[in-house]
Amino acid sequence: MKDQWERKIDYIRISVTDRCNLRCIYCMPEEGVPSIPHEEILTYDEIVRLCRCFLKFGINKVKITGGEPLVRKDITILIRQLKALDGMEAVTLTTNGLLLEKYLPELMASGLDGVNISLDTLNPLKYERITRKDALTDVLSAIEKALEYQNLKVKINCVPFEDTDKEDIIRIAGLARDSRLGVRFIEMMPIGLGKNFSYYSEENITAVLKEAYGQLEPVDTVIGNGPAHYYRVPGFKGKIGFISARSHKFCNECNRVRLTSQGYLKTCLQYDHGTDLKTLLRTNEEDSVLEQMIKQTIYEKPVSHNFTGDNPQGIYETDGMSKIGG
Ligand code: GTP
Ligand code: 5AD
Ligand code: SF4
Repeated sequence: MKDQWERKIDYIRISVTDRCNLRCIYCMPEEGVPSIPHEEILTYDEIVRLCRCFLKFGINKVKITGGEPLVRKDITILIRQLKALDGMEAVTLTTNGLLLEKYLPELMASGLDGVNISLDTLNPLKYERITRKDALTDVLSAIEKALEYQNLKVKINCVPFEDTDKEDIIRIAGLARDSRLGVRFIEMMPIGLGKNFSYYSEENITAVLKEAYGQLEPVDTVIGNGPAHYYRVPGFKGKIGFISARSHKFCNECNRVRLTSQGYLKTCLQYDHGTDLKTLLRTNEEDSVLEQMIKQTIYEKPVSHNFTGDNPQGIYETDGMSKIGG
């Protein structure tokens, strides 16, 4: 369906848990955040029921996020159920990769279409400093295994910040030289703890990459569900992408809404607390009531984020990235 700004909404990011097995310094405090009690989290049956409603509005692409989605028990069952829904086009997953190798065979059997893996550096000490866990080898091994499945799209998400140096950027991008990986650099967004960090702009990063690898050629075709745009690098098998929410605001092309693990339908990453769908589910409202609420919420999606503070519309998020799911 279209929102009030004529944007076609066909993609939903579903956060299945607020829990995570890492504590990335720009996302979670070292002590973690108080976990939401299990009974407040949507069950898989509830998520599937909502997805049936979303499909009626043409929302046929789902991204499973967290916290870390693979820490939720039996997540592959949910993926299988979502893939089996009539009209579902793609179900993909964004993960920190720690449990990925273990679950890959099950995920593939469930029909997973793609996986995005968070990886900010190839330097083991830095990885541990950023994530507060010595787990780089597990992530690298999972990436290798994921690439063995030819029909699985595999991408890396790297969020550079003040701790990042040229070598980190050159090495992470280099992963796309010898394999079909898409490597995406994400501008740190001022959300939750991300507000305490500076960001590398796309321009900063392309300058480093041009110096190291030569010219970058923009790719015109759309790859993935947006908002990333990509470049080809001579001699590289994979592509280099950018998610530049700060330097290249992409809200006018936004195609997505979010479902939080507690059942709120959020229409913008940065603000609005979202519409409470869980209460409707748990008071046994009919699908028609749910659908009316979904339709109205999506229609009212805000025009854009407000990282620069120039748009007074909406209520700012207070949840932080781990609860929103990125
Ligand atoms: P695909 O490319 O289709 O796999 O999806 P994606 O890039 O949307 O997914 P992913 O979960 O890997 O997200 C990558 C980064 O994009 C994360 O940092 C997200 O927070 C960010 N992101 C995703 N959607 C939005 C959005 O609507 N607005 C903004 N500002 N950032 C977003
Ligand atoms: N800005 C941009 N990206 C972020 N992520 C987490 N916090 C932020 C932030 N403040 C990224 C993670 C992961 C993805 C889901 O979101 O690194 O790759
Ligand atoms: Fe966990 Fe992702 Fe947040 Fe890191 S960025 S703490 S992996 S939710």
